[in-house]
Amino acid sequence: MKTPKRIQPLVDEGLVDEVMRQLMSGKEATVYVVRCGGEIRCAKVYKEAHKRSFKQAVAYQEGRTVKGSREARAMEKGTRYGRRVQEEVWQNAEVDALYRLGAAGVRVPKAYGCFEGVLLMELVTDAQGHAAPRLNDVEFTEELALEHHAKLLQQVVLMLCAGVIHGDLSEYNVLVDHAGPVIIDLPQAVDAAGNNSAAEMLERDVANLRTFFSSFAPQLAATQYGREIWALYQAGLLRPDTRLTGHVEENKRPADVGAVMREIELARKEEEMRLLYLQQR
Ligand SMILES: Nc1ncnc2c1ncn2[C@@H]1O[C@H](COP(=O)(O)OP(=O)(O)OP(=O)(O)O)[C@@H](O)[C@H]1O
Ligand SMILES: [Mg+2]
Repeated sequence: MKTPKRIQPLVDEGLVDEVMRQLMSGKEATVYVVRCGGEIRCAKVYKEAHKRSFKQAVAYQEGRTVKGSREARAMEKGTRYGRRVQEEVWQNAEVDALYRLGAAGVRVPKAYGCFEGVLLMELVTDAQGHAAPRLNDVEFTEELALEHHAKLLQQVVLMLCAGVIHGDLSEYNVLVDHAGPVIIDLPQAVDAAGNNSAAEMLERDVANLRTFFSSFAPQLAATQYGREIWALYQAGLLRPDTRLTGHVEENKRPADVGAVMREIELARKEEEMRLLYLQQR
């Protein structure tokens, strides 16, 4: 096909040899299938800031670091330069997340860099070599639903162990290839340690998976994996191979008032003895 204007700089640089077809046009970006030498890859072209939607919301930006104080000040002031820096931070966020997660062993597309607002990455394919379907496009038996749900939770845990929360995880942002789920669409990915809404976002991501899979496996509806994962993370106990139960122990044991009273009485007696001892000296 005719090279779209936004991809032309990559063709000029020799990063892309040919644009084969448009794969999808979403709310935030348009995705193309491209040929780079002998490899078929995909190119995600981000829409301009004013055409994008919620993912730029303040809650997602929190905890994101910028190069230097000059850039940070410019962003705060909203100058033209500031807006350009902001745009760059936004566009690099996804490729950064892909590198970080890929290195941590999370199943995400392999990234080949982001140039001029175009992310080059591996094209995820099905067994026939076609662009892989989204989770939402796949029908599951109960058994397969349970298996995919468990695999995805494992990915969520791996991500969190790497300090990252997806922030927009759903059946629309997961592809299914021959080996199972592959997580995509990460420009809004959140830093788990530096964001006040982290717990909420993690729980929402996990709840979205629960809602989707419980239509195939109703027993999932009562599970609390999100809360469980977050509690383990906060306690410093989350590991990539942590076994999850889906249940959170509610602390329902009444406080042992008797034991507390005995402690107080003991302390009082001790003090009494100490005073007596001092008097007798
Ligand atoms: N690496 C990939 N391999 C195969 N298909 C992909 C890949 N990345 C994206 N796609 C396809 O392009 C679609 C849009 O990609 P993505 O979700 O990253 O962009 P988006 O514009 O932010 O989406 P939306 O706003 O609709 O969620 C995906 O649903 C998927 O079908
Ligand atoms: Mg998407």
